[in-house]
Amino acid sequence: MNIQSLLSDKIMQALIAAGAPSDCDALVKQSAKAQFGDYQANGIMAAAKKMGMQPRQLAEQVISHLDLTHIADKVEIAGPGFINIYLNKHWVAKQADLALTTDKLNITTTSKPQTVLVDYSAPNVAKEMHVGHLRSTIIGDATVRTLEFLGHNVIRANHVGDWGTQFGMLIAYLEKVQNENANELALSDLESFYRAAKKHYDEDEVFAEKARNYVVKLQGGDAYCLDMWRKLVDITMSQNVATYKRLNVTLSLEDTMGESLYNDMLAGVVKDLREKGLAVESDGATVVYLDEYKNKDGEPMGVIIQKRDGGYLYATTDIAAIIYRYTKLHCDRILYYTDSRQHQHLEQVWLIAHKAGYIPESLQLEHHMFGMMLGKDGKPFKTRSGETIKLNDLLDEALERALVLIRGKNPDLPETELHEIAEAVSIGAVKYADLSKNRTTDYVFDWDNMLAFEGNTAPYLQYAYTRVLSLFRKAELDIDKLSGEISLEHEKEYALAARLMQFEEAIQSVAKEGLPHILCAYLYDIATLFSSFYENCPVLAANTETQKLSRLRLSALTAKTLAVGFQMLGIKAVEKM
Ligand code: ARG
Repeated sequence: MNIQSLLSDKIMQALIAAGAPSDCDALVKQSAKAQFGDYQANGIMAAAKKMGMQPRQLAEQVISHLDLTHIADKVEIAGPGFINIYLNKHWVAKQADLALTTDKLNITTTSKPQTVLVDYSAPNVAKEMHVGHLRSTIIGDATVRTLEFLGHNVIRANHVGDWGTQFGMLIAYLEKVQNENANELALSDLESFYRAAKKHYDEDEVFAEKARNYVVKLQGGDAYCLDMWRKLVDITMSQNVATYKRLNVTLSLEDTMGESLYNDMLAGVVKDLREKGLAVESDGATVVYLDEYKNKDGEPMGVIIQKRDGGYLYATTDIAAIIYRYTKLHCDRILYYTDSRQHQHLEQVWLIAHKAGYIPESLQLEHHMFGMMLGKDGKPFKTRSGETIKLNDLLDEALERALVLIRGKNPDLPETELHEIAEAVSIGAVKYADLSKNRTTDYVFDWDNMLAFEGNTAPYLQYAYTRVLSLFRKAELDIDKLSGEISLEHEKEYALAARLMQFEEAIQSVAKEGLPHILCAYLYDIATLFSSFYENCPVLAANTETQKLSRLRLSALTAKTLAVGFQMLGIKAVEKM
């Protein structure tokens, strides 16, 4: 049930009936304060302006055409022409009962499934995943889970950096390591492997020569080089997949669509852009000049698509990728999860693809960008010695800290259970700390804030969930088999139920804009509203059996909502803490 869109439709109908043009917007929003009702329609003023009417007068006419029988108790005009809507508590109670008894909590799945490709994670081969890949991986995955829940056909695209001139050096070094130490690959530590390869390349001219030779051979499809390259990719990806599993991220090996996938298309793309007159030669390189972007001298900016030495660039690959995604995968929508520094790159790629006629305007292209992870000092998050922090090291530390936290709360937990819970809490805490911040800005990574039972944290939410479950354990009742019906007498009951009925609206902000922090804030609200309901409204000691069942049902819906919310964020719910 999406109350916001139900009310939007109703107000739109009333607006049209009152003579407003069909392109106006009812602008129905959740009210910020209870004194303004549950929802507010803010679009009357703009519509009145279009019609040359007094806003309050239009508001009156809209209300006279508005039929919210059973749905709302009171509809009033406020200020210059806002319409405040107060929902009927019996109707809200009925919606809550429906949510409890209907598949997927009565959330409307889409009637128009789209093919949505989500381009996320995208680590680089022969490098270990570091904190820089964390945001893309987990925000992207939350969107993937949400879109799938809503019934879209989602393609996970892991645009792994698995191609480029660095592979000459990596192959030459892998060969050297294999020759010297046949049994051991020395690739388990990818960071040191990469660094050692680079050192040899920089310091040993014979090695460098061989490396350059291997680049050419690899690009020419030489079987030996391809075989060595495959080894590097496989080892990296098997390590990454282990990290995804640990992170409870749904990416698997089959979702790898690395840069190499588009290799065979690149020459054709450059040739075609030249023939279309979009790309020209400049200093031996091939460049697309874009009037839409000016360099610092005020001249059209050039995007290089082929270097003088024949090599292709990151942009060329992304142009090919978009063609592939549209023509082969039939995407309706493509979402890119990369940091904000890649925004111009993507916009230029899209512009070139449009100009060349590779993709239609109807293809939805969105860059869901994000800021950086900062340390407490406000600088990019690094180790003390200034190195990038490996993701696995970060997760190890999270686990250590979570063990301390959970042991402190519940010292009697058996060791295996403690570990299981701490694992879920540690991963949950790291992910939630990120997901709960507006992705568009930088955020400060702070252990103490994320691994706490107070505040908007994963442990707080996970604990709230266990509290509801323990209620059912105490009552010896099955949460899935409750009789009775919800009735909302107490104001705390109403507040909780009304917010529970906004779940779909929170989910939509993830599906539409990739903004999981709105879902996080919502779940946090639910947990705090449940807490004050629980303090004010005795459940097992309710006055009557009817009231007890009603409150149990409300508690059950709370638990189920939290569980589905966790599932969308990729956070594990635990039964006990
Ligand atoms: N591998 C790139 C990086 O580490 C991110 C790729 C993002 N996706 C894309 N289609 N360009 O920065």
